[in-house]
Amino acid sequence: MDKNFLWGGATASYQCEGAWDVDEKVPSMWDVYLHENDLENGDVASDHYHRYEEDIRMMKEGGQNSYRFSLAWPRIIKNKEGDVNQKGLDFYHKILDTCKKYDIEPFVTLYHWDLPQYWEETGGWLNHEVCAAFEHYAKVCYEAFGDKIINWTTFNEPKWFVANGYMIGNYPPGFQDPQKTMIAAYNVMYASALGVKAFREGGYKGQIGIVHSYTPVNGVDDSIDTRIAMRYADNYCNNWILDTAALGEFPIDLISVLAKDYDVSFMKADELKVIKENTVDFIGLNYYSRTLVKPYTGGETQLSFNHSGKKGESKVLIKGWFEQVKDPNNETTEWDTEIYPKGLQDGLIEAWDRYHLPIYVTENGVGVREDVTVDQVNDDYRISFMNDHINAIMNAMDQGADIRGYYAWASFDLYSWKNGVEKRYGLVAVDFEKEQKRTPKASYYWFKDMIESNGEKIQRREFD
Ligand code: NOJ
Repeated sequence: MDKNFLWGGATASYQCEGAWDVDEKVPSMWDVYLHENDLENGDVASDHYHRYEEDIRMMKEGGQNSYRFSLAWPRIIKNKEGDVNQKGLDFYHKILDTCKKYDIEPFVTLYHWDLPQYWEETGGWLNHEVCAAFEHYAKVCYEAFGDKIINWTTFNEPKWFVANGYMIGNYPPGFQDPQKTMIAAYNVMYASALGVKAFREGGYKGQIGIVHSYTPVNGVDDSIDTRIAMRYADNYCNNWILDTAALGEFPIDLISVLAKDYDVSFMKADELKVIKENTVDFIGLNYYSRTLVKPYTGGETQLSFNHSGKKGESKVLIKGWFEQVKDPNNETTEWDTEIYPKGLQDGLIEAWDRYHLPIYVTENGVGVREDVTVDQVNDDYRISFMNDHINAIMNAMDQGADIRGYYAWASFDLYSWKNGVEKRYGLVAVDFEKEQKRTPKASYYWFKDMIESNGEKIQRREFD
């Protein structure tokens, strides 16, 4: 591996910081949605707000050289008028200075889903004004942190928060409305391009990208019908983010299909030009699994998610487009995620062939229930998961893909949105019941050894 390869873990502001109303932070849409619906929330989460020093020190002691985290817009911008909260900036300066102290390269996301509630109240991502507000927020961050951060990304996983928030309805704002989904998707991609534009115009050092929840698409066979279903699935799952951010164009076949049934007049020529002219420098890919599809054979659209951790509750079928199926030969987690490292190798090669941009694997991990009251969590399943996925990355690099970093999700246990803290991903166990005690899991030490061996410790294999 190149000596500049970034090895680290990732987190997100809402999922780990806690301190939800401290130091003049205003509520995010998640604060309000979870409070109002009386759901498990991230009010305290992993209390990273107060424990960041220990957390970042542990990254260093774990051999890592980078930390991917996000900035919270509602900590930094107080209101619709765009006033800045100096205390919010101060907090991230402390994080960044601690990274510097421990020689950890920050890799920073501007938006990991915590929209300020004052914007949600005006329509959130359905309100076009929020795009300019995001641009303002981005500029404030570039100005404040531009000399401390060289790796920026605009959005984390547009597919996930847009589809879940506006189409499936399991995330705030909880709509199930295709027209709204399209408007929110467009506004987010336009806002991302505005963020890139502001970065370029400001002449800041470093590079800027976007992070996508990448799920490469496979078909059940080679038939024409399956190939058509695969293209629909790829447009739904991947292309509207990656093509738009990396090539500057929404997939034309997706737009023409949608235009038959929906109003697409919200897409404006001058804004499409901004998108075309402000593509990203690199792509960040979060990989958990692929999507295996078969042709649509009938039935209404069904999109359900497993938030219970009881196998068999998820279903993805889009009327007229495709149906997702399970491969019975592969293991899945309790939350129905198929474990399929080959998908990462294939997907990286596909993304490299298509976009020819540097790639960072910005998240990869396995979510499970774990007893953290023991002396050390022996998470051999996580070790083998990480080994196989890093092996997949190395195979893709051997085939020419330009991959520059790997981030385990997550640096430490944190709050997993609608799955609460029960679903654990961390390299470090957090005992949420017991004063937030941190204890490295076996995977943390394995990761350290592997990084120190510069990848030599990975058990290599070709996939069938
Ligand atoms: C994707 C998201 O970026 C993160 O917020 C989430 O918790 C993990 N993947 C695990 O599902």
